[in-house]
Amino acid sequence: MNFDVVVIGAGAAGLFCAAQAGQRGLRVLLIDHSDRVAEKIRISGGGRCNFTNRDLDVRAPQKHFVSENPNFCRSALSRYTPQQFIELMDRHGIAHHEKHKGQLFCDGPSQQIIDMLLAECHAGNVERWQPCGVKRLAFEAGNDTQAGCYRLETDRGTVDAAQVVVATGGLSIPQLGASDFGYRVAQQFGLRLVAPRPALVPLTFAGQAWAPYASLAGLALPVQIETGSKKTRMHFMEDLLFTHRGLSGPAVLQISSYWQEGTPLTIDFAPGVEVSEALSAAKARSRKRIANELAMLVPSRLADAWVGEDPALQRPINEATDRALTQLAERIARWQITPDGTEGYKKAEVTAGGVDTRDLSSQTLESKQPGLYFIGEVVDVTGWLGGYNFQWAWASAHACAMAL
Ligand code: FDA
Repeated sequence: MNFDVVVIGAGAAGLFCAAQAGQRGLRVLLIDHSDRVAEKIRISGGGRCNFTNRDLDVRAPQKHFVSENPNFCRSALSRYTPQQFIELMDRHGIAHHEKHKGQLFCDGPSQQIIDMLLAECHAGNVERWQPCGVKRLAFEAGNDTQAGCYRLETDRGTVDAAQVVVATGGLSIPQLGASDFGYRVAQQFGLRLVAPRPALVPLTFAGQAWAPYASLAGLALPVQIETGSKKTRMHFMEDLLFTHRGLSGPAVLQISSYWQEGTPLTIDFAPGVEVSEALSAAKARSRKRIANELAMLVPSRLADAWVGEDPALQRPINEATDRALTQLAERIARWQITPDGTEGYKKAEVTAGGVDTRDLSSQTLESKQPGLYFIGEVVDVTGWLGGYNFQWAWASAHACAMAL
């Protein structure tokens, strides 16, 4: 069987690319080894799919993305904008609303976006084979009378195509069909990889080191969190959540994409508050216990835990030494702790790293191997939390489809 294009992976990027290529008149086959389409869209955003972000600055979109080559994503993201995806949603009558920091969600279930993408594929006469695995992918060189082509041996037979788009995503959430297929294909054709790692993921701490904080599980509070050296420093102001094994919540998921193993995080539990000054002032006017005064600045569970660690702090604030209060303020405003790892791909929203952008065109997503393209999460481009990863899926799919 012959097609102009085979797209492997019917997730966000694969569906969108297949639909647009089909609507441009190409004969497109879309293959996925799962029996369901776009499972990650379905579960995303708590079932309401945070499908894009209005705050993405199309003149400098790289600000919201992590990559060895931060500028790579600019071309695709500036040529297919959040507004264009919003217009597509509007044409399909899918109601949506804005939440925190430009994040756009469906009013109804995420399935509406899947249905929209399937309708777009239908409009492009895309043929879809699911479930269907790809056992082998090879490039068959041409001769004087015939051009070369890709030959795919699939569970449903052999297929020839002039071009192949790999949209098989990353390694996160293996139970939803994630595989390393894309990385293996890249290596097969001599393309480089940036080592994949879990990102947008909760961070864990060694049992002993975490024991004093495990009782705080369930506590959520706004923080400023930072990591990196002076040159690479990255920080976020978001909510943090204590868990039994470590830290989670948007602040931690965001910083996890920048965190390097063995390095500490610095957390300010009272951002915008001069904790040292507030405690000194309390010392001058109050006879309450330190934990009670601290509870005016941070949640009382946190205040109790921090004060409980030091016998010198278990007393009325007017009896505390200035040194003890300064040290306490430092531990509230600049708490340093070093994670021992992450919760891994089981819990990671995305995979950072992937196909090295040095071997891809930023205009078309075509690789150094002519006719072979990589789009979406399989590429070394990882967005912040908040709809940026779907926007990369749409934009990279669009750039590729326009070039096929
Ligand atoms: P995606 O993973 O969507 O699709 C890959 C497809 O390839 C899958 O259908 C898979 O079955 C298929 N496949 C894999 N291996 C294959 C093989 N060997 N053969 C054939 N097919 C194969 N992002 C965001 O912007 N907003 C949000 O709200 C969320 N929320 C969210 C929640 C959760 C729980 C997760 C895990 C992730 C998110 N994300 C997100 C991230 C977002 O889901 C992700 O970045 C995109 O789905 C990536 O789109 P892709 O199409 O590249 O991969």
